[in-house]
Amino acid sequence: MDALDVDSIRKDFPILGTKVNGKPLIYLDSAATSQKPSSVIEAVDYYYKNYNANIHRGLYELSIKSTEEYERSKELAAKFINAESYREIIYCRNATDAINIVSLSWGESGISAGDRILITDMEHHSNIVPWLELAKRKKAVLDHVGLEAGSYIDMEDFKRKLESRPKMVAFTNASNVLGTINDAKKMARLAHEAGATVLVDCAQTSPHMALDVRDMDCDFAAFSSHKMLGPSGIGILYGKAALLEQITPAIVGSDMIRSVTFDSAVWNELPWKFESGTPNIEGAIGFGAAIEYLNKTGMQRIRQHEIDITKYAMKRLSEVPGVSVFGPGMGEPERRVGVISFKIAGAHPHDVAQIFNSEGIAIRAGHHCAMPLVTQVVGEPAVSRMSFYLYNNKEEVDKAIDAITKVKKVLRLDGKE
Ligand code: ALA
Repeated sequence: MDALDVDSIRKDFPILGTKVNGKPLIYLDSAATSQKPSSVIEAVDYYYKNYNANIHRGLYELSIKSTEEYERSKELAAKFINAESYREIIYCRNATDAINIVSLSWGESGISAGDRILITDMEHHSNIVPWLELAKRKKAVLDHVGLEAGSYIDMEDFKRKLESRPKMVAFTNASNVLGTINDAKKMARLAHEAGATVLVDCAQTSPHMALDVRDMDCDFAAFSSHKMLGPSGIGILYGKAALLEQITPAIVGSDMIRSVTFDSAVWNELPWKFESGTPNIEGAIGFGAAIEYLNKTGMQRIRQHEIDITKYAMKRLSEVPGVSVFGPGMGEPERRVGVISFKIAGAHPHDVAQIFNSEGIAIRAGHHCAMPLVTQVVGEPAVSRMSFYLYNNKEEVDKAIDAITKVKKVLRLDGKE
């Protein structure tokens, strides 16, 4: 497999040619949202300029074309994650929305008083709060699996907690704070053996590695387009067709029905019964273009590039006194996605982010929407994070290391490690 041609990829992303505070932009926050290639921007622009019309509602050229392109995007998404068919692809707003759809619709019949829902200490708020609310509504119990060495899911604890036979097991495929990639296939198998339904939050893996929901054998999975080069406001809820067929949708109205009277409504077929109201058509079209870009580039090559750059960044960070890194160690770059949370002794993460910004470098600081995890692992509710994607290079990592030196100088931290 030949390596990614990062120089050529960078030319596809217009924003990477811009300056911030007089310095070339260095974008190290792709775990929050990715930048967009011209092909995605142009697909959305072309739709608005040439065939903007509602889908599934018009018998005229524009509507026929927008319907075709919307449905083509779904076919691409289904293939991208190896779903059996587009019928298993529900377009929603983002991964958070996808998990809420499951908690509100599946949860209505799937959870009763006294039932258990199992999540992990590694979850984003998106995979905590919907279950917390469902547990409150249904008088169910929300349980969580602990961590091993502050970096991995404690599999012994996972097995122990499965003994109480939770009805739902929901976990992240990779942590947005630690970068840790979880063995979703193994976890899904164990959860199924315990009789649970399984949801996997794939928001941090789908941009970075080839995913196969059939091999993973999850019942549901959640994705966001905006982290995988596509527009924001569109994501995927994947669900096994047999399961989706049984569920009553929680959000109803518009053309998600086959027929309506004042006494009853009959739901439309999959996946439309879960898509009420005019969807994000331009988002779906842009998302399709993003998937085509990822396919053309090759997910294996993207993954290898991210392993290389993460390894390099971990090494460079380890050479700086006073810097600690969270998540899997330097010898195991394969166990993480390109996410590195780090702390500079004596510096508040917000100050770190501001000084990075003065150098044109975008990183994220704070609780990363994972307060229980950050508080447990970091010991306080904030940490600095850099995250990489296919367009980042080692020179940018070097600039980030120089920015750490600047942080230490500005905050007078040298010698205080
Ligand atoms: N979940 C996104 C992040 O980790 C927004 O930054």
